[in-house]
Amino acid sequence: MMPPDSSLDACRFRDQAGSLAHCRRVAALSLEISYRLRLPASGNQLLEQAALLHHFPPALLAAASCSRLLADLYGSQAAAPGGAGWLEASGQPHAGAVLKALRGGGRACAEDRISLFARIVELSDLFDEQIEFLPYAYRTVEQVLDELRWMAQDGFCNPAVVAALTSLPRTPRQQLVESVYRLPVFPAAALQALALASEQEVDFQFLEKLASSDQVLAGSLIKVANSARFSPARSIASIRQAISYIGLEAARKILMAAVLEPLFGSANLCHLWRHSLEAAQFCERLARETGRHDPEEAFLAGLVHDVGRLALGRLSGETAAAYQRLLAKGCAPVFAELALLRFDHAELSGDILRVWNFPNHLVEAVRRHHAPEQSEAALASLLYTSECWLESEEDLPSAVRWEEAMRRTGLSFERLNALGPAAGLLDALIRAA
Ligand SMILES: [Fe+2]
Ligand SMILES: [Fe+2]
Ligand SMILES: [Fe+2]
Repeated sequence: MMPPDSSLDACRFRDQAGSLAHCRRVAALSLEISYRLRLPASGNQLLEQAALLHHFPPALLAAASCSRLLADLYGSQAAAPGGAGWLEASGQPHAGAVLKALRGGGRACAEDRISLFARIVELSDLFDEQIEFLPYAYRTVEQVLDELRWMAQDGFCNPAVVAALTSLPRTPRQQLVESVYRLPVFPAAALQALALASEQEVDFQFLEKLASSDQVLAGSLIKVANSARFSPARSIASIRQAISYIGLEAARKILMAAVLEPLFGSANLCHLWRHSLEAAQFCERLARETGRHDPEEAFLAGLVHDVGRLALGRLSGETAAAYQRLLAKGCAPVFAELALLRFDHAELSGDILRVWNFPNHLVEAVRRHHAPEQSEAALASLLYTSECWLESEEDLPSAVRWEEAMRRTGLSFERLNALGPAAGLLDALIRAA
């Protein structure tokens, strides 16, 4: 791990947008550490502002320029109340004081509170940097946190601050997996439909019986059969007609998709449902484009890749509050998950799919869809490509991961760009979601 002194150099590898996003995450994490240390809320704004500006040399940061910079970079909400000059007029310490302590080390600072804030920003910066370097380092978050503990023992980090970071509120993994079973709606037909994933061939009668067993499934099937994609000459009104008209393969896909809808609806995550449908279609398209993956498997993997986020919707108490605060402050979900839970929703999705008896290779691909370099499964890279191309913004951008995913899938930016729009099987369901 790089020592704290060199951490600011890492900023050279980021573009400006990436740098601002990094500073936002450092600010969000600094506040969480402050909550954990039970510091007075009156210092929150100073701590947040210092973290947001921690890439600027303190010599340039008079109180008035702090406010102006914050307003320019992050909007007026991040600036001091009262606008530029407020802090100067009020005589309050400003972000520049914390940044001086950050550069000068704890001992040079006269005020304990300012020194502590500097150490909080320093540790948050270091932690975020290590998360950004995970694609290069092949390490777990637990290992990163262990190294921070050792650094605290060796006097490189403030032990109390490290203890606060490593004890942020968390929920055990198994508890989250089990919470999926407690979602209000899990139709009996769901397990049957999900079992379709492992069937090589499905017969007409089976699909008809399955669709007839549940209103949501029947409705989805008929909705898609009547959509612009199939444009029937006469309106289709029965399940039998719908399956005959669109074919067994299309009917199977629609039923597999529709069976998951109540789970998303009950968790009030319509946007995630839409994203899952889009990902299913896009992954199937990419699989056909590359010729390296089974399109049916890619479809299913896209459909279920984020089911772990359903479980995260069941977080409660302090963990839920901390997770929502991190998201509200601009952290990507994967970052917030790693900081609080030590694993991300992709791993949770894998756990859930294992419980649902999905084939091992699909479980593995989904489990690593935000860290595809850690998997032998090329399908993990296909899912990662889909996340990036569909702009899900679930993760920190990583050029090295992107390049590796392109290599493993056989895709390129140019090929993806040339794909252009295409009518998908599930468009009618996406529009209705
Ligand atoms: Fe930084
Ligand atoms: Fe994801
Ligand atoms: Fe996703």
